[in-house]
Amino acid sequence: MSSPADDPERHNGAIRRLTELDRWRQRIGELDPVFFEASLTKTFADEQARAAFRERWLGRFLEHWPELAHVALGTEGEIIGYIVGCHCDPARDPRFEDIGFYPALAHRTQAYPAHLHINLAASARSKGIGSRLIEAFVSDARAAGLPGVHLVTGRESRNRSFYARNGFVNVAELTWGGTPIVMLGRPTCVPKRSAQQKK
Ligand SMILES: CC(C)(COP(=O)(O)OP(=O)(O)OC[C@H]1O[C@@H](n2cnc3c(N)ncnc32)[C@H](O)[C@@H]1OP(=O)(O)O)[C@@H](O)C(=O)NCCC(=O)NCCS
Repeated sequence: MSSPADDPERHNGAIRRLTELDRWRQRIGELDPVFFEASLTKTFADEQARAAFRERWLGRFLEHWPELAHVALGTEGEIIGYIVGCHCDPARDPRFEDIGFYPALAHRTQAYPAHLHINLAASARSKGIGSRLIEAFVSDARAAGLPGVHLVTGRESRNRSFYARNGFVNVAELTWGGTPIVMLGRPTCVPKRSAQQKK
């Protein structure tokens, strides 16, 4: 008879802090397929361009703020999704000078300084896992005494409904590189799923 600890289902959809996984440094590569599958950019001029893209939207967070990363685990304990981010204001931190839209958002980032990036493997979507990753990140920001968290996404992106249900509101809009984008913010005092509940 197997014990609960042997049951592979115990991992299904579990949320863990990355740095609390066994040998977490060796497991960082598991985030890459999730990242590249979810990214809208699919082709790169060469390997250097691919690496720069990863560094821009994922790598720097794992390098500088791994303790803020949370992962979702599948049935075998494999990584099927993640949330990464940082607590510093990217419009004022030189480590984000390469992200061209932040100067135009600096008037709003002080109220929502923490920022996040979240992605799930396709097979892990629409099961409520993303909301639990958001709560883990917001909980850390709240514990750190920050007033709010934000993210930037496409104005027409399908994920807008997900963020609305998770308490995010539209705080700024602009066009960047020809693409309409939106900054969405959530005060850390807003409790879980306070916005429109999913019908
Ligand atoms: C957005 C995402 C993190 C939400 O997590 P989730 O656990 O799937 O979310 P929930 O189960 O709570 O809700 C489902 C919602 O996720 C979003 N979603 C699901 N599949 C999606 C996809 N392929 N692309 C974008 N958003 C998607 C939709 O908002 C969906 O709501 P809807 O059914 O009303 O359209 C996840 O779906 C995902 O990784 N999507 C692809 C990549 C992405 O958009 N990342 C965020 C970049 S800012």
